[in-house]
Amino acid sequence: MPTNFPLFPQQASAQAGQVDAIYFFMVAVTAFFALLIAGLIVFFSVRFRRRHRDEIGVPIHGSLALELLWTFVPFVIAMGMFGWGAKVFFDLYRVPAGAMEIFVVGKQWMWKVQHMGGQREINELHVPIGRPVKLIMGSEDVIHSFYIPAFRVKADVIPGRYNTLWFEATKPGTYHLFCAEYCGTKHSGMIGSVVAMEPAQYQAWLDGGPADGTPVDAGAKLFQDLACHTCHQQDSQGRGPVLTNLFGSRVQLQDGRTVVADEAYIRESIVNPQAMVKAGFQPLMPTFQGLVTEEQLLQLISYVRSLSDAGAAPGAGTAAPTQPQDRSTLENKR
Ligand code: CUA
Repeated sequence: MPTNFPLFPQQASAQAGQVDAIYFFMVAVTAFFALLIAGLIVFFSVRFRRRHRDEIGVPIHGSLALELLWTFVPFVIAMGMFGWGAKVFFDLYRVPAGAMEIFVVGKQWMWKVQHMGGQREINELHVPIGRPVKLIMGSEDVIHSFYIPAFRVKADVIPGRYNTLWFEATKPGTYHLFCAEYCGTKHSGMIGSVVAMEPAQYQAWLDGGPADGTPVDAGAKLFQDLACHTCHQQDSQGRGPVLTNLFGSRVQLQDGRTVVADEAYIRESIVNPQAMVKAGFQPLMPTFQGLVTEEQLLQLISYVRSLSDAGAAPGAGTAAPTQPQDRSTLENKR
């Protein structure tokens, strides 16, 4: 855990430079105009001060050229900031294909991490450098926010949906991890560290850690334990839809909508099965709300994903960023 408290966090991700560049540009523009205006106020106050008690001010004549200048210049600067900011935002938002995936669950008051190989950690996150890492994050209880200042990334972790966040660490080291959303009494204690390692060391760490089954294995076991397999059978004879090759496909719902079977859809179908019933099926499935934890939900989702060609390779990443899809399925619900 770093003990020093620098004024500015170090840059340790591929995105950090981009974020800092626009930040410093905006600070510089703001400082320039603040000083210019403050200086002019003082200068004009002295230069045009009232010299006699009965002195009357000279009427002001408008200047179209000046009006245009001080409208157009700020417009160009503001639009430049907007365009630049939008570019950085989209780069931060779009997960590159092939990113390594890691599950993160926030709960009062800790971060639980599970790697696709089965390794688990609490309040620690080990990642390799030089490779995009995508976090799929959910919350067990209230809103938290996953924040790694050195990587310049932060995303809310929200109960009932999955948010993603990606970064590519560039420098080996140990960095602060904070919860950046007030989440109760021990919010300030919901901290941890991110350990960025050389790929070889990371592999050694993965091999050395106790792996109690991959999320896919755990999900497959849960699938049996919860008796999901009695309705979701391999062939279409079951009372529930066949799950093979479901993940990533488009699902026609009973109410006429079509949704993409992504993480959010599968989660919703487990905790609130009546919300999105597949066309041609009866709303028979009971809810598993409260019977499975967020971690178990992620394991079940991993298992369902592993049944599809699209989602089979662990850590290989889904083809498209899941976030916009998450949003669409949830908005359909509301
Ligand atoms: Cu979790 Cu603040």
